[in-house]
Amino acid sequence: MKKILVVFGTRPEAIKMCPLVLELKKSPLLDTKVCVSGQHRQMLEQVLDIFGVVPDYDLAVMKAGQDLTDVTTSILTGMQEVLRQEKPDVVLVHGDTSTAFASSLAAFYQQIPVGHVEAGLRTHNIWSPYPEEFNRQAIGLTAAYHFAPTETARQALLQEGKNPDTIYVTGNTGIDALFHTIRKDFSHPETEWAKGSRLIVLTAHRRENLGEPMRKMFRAIRRVVDTFPDVKVLYPIHMNPRVRQIAAEEFGNRDRIRIVEPLDVVAFHNLMEASYLIMTDSGGIQEEAPALGKPVLVMRDTTERPEGVEAGTLKLTGTEEDTIFAECSRLLTDTQTYRRMSTATNPYGDGKASQRIRKVLEEANV
Ligand code: UD1
Ligand code: UDP
Repeated sequence: MKKILVVFGTRPEAIKMCPLVLELKKSPLLDTKVCVSGQHRQMLEQVLDIFGVVPDYDLAVMKAGQDLTDVTTSILTGMQEVLRQEKPDVVLVHGDTSTAFASSLAAFYQQIPVGHVEAGLRTHNIWSPYPEEFNRQAIGLTAAYHFAPTETARQALLQEGKNPDTIYVTGNTGIDALFHTIRKDFSHPETEWAKGSRLIVLTAHRRENLGEPMRKMFRAIRRVVDTFPDVKVLYPIHMNPRVRQIAAEEFGNRDRIRIVEPLDVVAFHNLMEASYLIMTDSGGIQEEAPALGKPVLVMRDTTERPEGVEAGTLKLTGTEEDTIFAECSRLLTDTQTYRRMSTATNPYGDGKASQRIRKVLEEANV
């Protein structure tokens, strides 16, 4: 049996890797183990609980106020031991986090083949998103298998000179996750609260937005709420204390802006489904929203997900207050724009990405 070690550590990686873990564990040809870095703690455990995935290893690295060096060095050291003990044939990492970067480097140092899930996303600007663009390019250097979610991602990898035989277009496993989470009969206290209004779901956490850009995003949203009396904003807030401080200072107490703790992924996906539109600087939400037919204002200067912009669901607004306010007002008043953005097609796959990755690994010569 081929030994596969799946490594992840943050909420979005867990959401996109758990469906894959469940699929790989069904294979009689693969012996699949899971290592979590614990780069996130509470936000990671929420996802593991929902999918019923129990890690075989937990590096438990998270500490309050961790910086990039802290996370990278503790995972690199922790993974050295796990890899020596486990001796996997392939290490699977996801996307662009510090966990994925440090784990792929640890595997590379022990000459263990890396499989990169969600490979080939690029902005070509290593400061945006920071440090994720660096991470994903660096992981690409170590990878023996590139699991690209889309044809655009495959093209980006080919342009970098990757061997075409090592690239597999699979769709995004984030779409697989939606098949586990979306419920017809979903009800939640927040859907009750939102009844009769137009619900905006908000998330924000990007490192390069911490500080003035995030303040400007939040001020724009405050103006939206003050201008449109039928709008309510639900904001499941990231656990980063720097985000919390800015939100407390900019939003204060407002009836129609509700800040709640991070929602578990079932609640969050179903609340996205119940929303009118989404405002975010997140990556994964840019893939989920098109599948749910929800317009997204992406409050960032760049996106590595041009497919969603081309499909018409995503609009890149930058982080200037006036632009965000104008774009959001347009979606709330111009029915044609709203209809166009909410009926675009989903470019990120059919929910079978995990099955395709499993097949590649089953047939791989390692
Ligand atoms: C990380 C990833 C980012 C991803 C994001 C998803 C890197 C460099 N960044 O950024 O790509 O988009 O996760 O959310 O890998 N915290 C908790 N509990 C938790 C999670 C976080 O308390 O469960 C707090 C801690 O104080 C921690 C801080 O949040 O120090 C920041 O976490 P960190 O993983 O360093 O950065 P993120 O902004 O979450
Ligand atoms: N998400 C969640 N609960 C929340 C907010 C987001 O489960 O309260 C999910 C969301 O559906 C998506 C992922 O978390 O799958 C996005 O995570 P995040 O924005 O933290 O990271 P990014 O995708 O930007 O790396």
